[in-house]
Amino acid sequence: MTIEFKGRTAFITGGASGAGFGQAKVFGREGCKVAIADIRGDAVEKALAELRAEGIEAYGVELDITDRAAFARAADDVEAALGPVSMLFGTAGVSIFGPLEQATYDDYDWIFGVNLGGVVNLMQTFVPRMIAQGLGGHIVNTASLGCFFANSGSGIYSASKFAVHGITMAMRDALKDKGIGVSLVAPANIKSNIAESIDTRPEKFAHSGYKVDAREIAALHEIYSQGMEPEELAGHVKQAILENRFYVIPYPESRGLLEMTFQQALDAIPPADTDLEGQAKRHEAMMKYIAARREMDTERYGSSTR
Ligand SMILES: NC(=O)c1ccc[n+]([C@@H]2O[C@H](COP(=O)([O-])OP(=O)(O)OC[C@H]3O[C@@H](n4cnc5c(N)ncnc54)[C@H](O)[C@@H]3O)[C@@H](O)[C@H]2O)c1
Repeated sequence: MTIEFKGRTAFITGGASGAGFGQAKVFGREGCKVAIADIRGDAVEKALAELRAEGIEAYGVELDITDRAAFARAADDVEAALGPVSMLFGTAGVSIFGPLEQATYDDYDWIFGVNLGGVVNLMQTFVPRMIAQGLGGHIVNTASLGCFFANSGSGIYSASKFAVHGITMAMRDALKDKGIGVSLVAPANIKSNIAESIDTRPEKFAHSGYKVDAREIAALHEIYSQGMEPEELAGHVKQAILENRFYVIPYPESRGLLEMTFQQALDAIPPADTDLEGQAKRHEAMMKYIAARREMDTERYGSSTR
């Protein structure tokens, strides 16, 4: 399945800045019509001007991706302006860091709402439309290297990205026979404005356990200033789409951490030649369930899951 980008409409959350803006430029240059959706209206206007100056057909929408009704309206507006959306980029994300045990519910609700909720709302809004259109396409959600391991300081952020990882992997399976590919980006460091994401936090989540002051923002800026250029990252995303590859992790320095993480999991598994009876029993039960499930799903939904 090789995808043709030219003429497709792409919908990009967080498209006014950083990784999302890089995707807008790269896929716009490939001939996609791009819709950028972002909570910061002024940033949308600025990004649109830049994209259009390059000759890219672009449409902007000020959208809080946690607002489901607004999301549906945004989808209608974009499809009326640019035609059916067949490429989705769930790129918007926010972060807040500090000792996990200091977190408040507001911290959880804000981070999970945007990072996971935004991806869920994007897919809930557009996947049924994409299937109905039958144009195929691709979905790219952005997690983080933190979707594979977590520590206290970035605990909520990482947990939200673990969930993005999981739901994106499941969606790849769900859409595999529908001509819609699904990929996950797990970046280590991107040159972006995410250090300032606290500015986009709605007042209703202000009761935070964390202090985010100018010193913290400056320290974060210093890290992200050394990050990968968004357009370079989007180039890796493009390649992954062309190969219909799930993971996009173009950071060689991540190998050690991932090896360590997966090795820990592998080390917890007993040798394959132990508990043979238990293995056989569990395998048989699972196979029986899968067969029953296939039958029930086909009856109820006309297609079967695994
Ligand atoms: N910067 C990094 O080093 C890094 C590393 C790993 C993963 N990521 C992920 O990359 C993605 C892109 O982030 P970035 O680094 O380019 O940051 P960025 O801040 O430059 O871009 C994110 C955009 O999302 C928008 N946004 C925030 N909340 C929103 C909401 N509720 N509704 C709509 N738009 C909203 C912001 O206004 C911003 O324009 C995020 O998912 C982030 O978690 C970033």
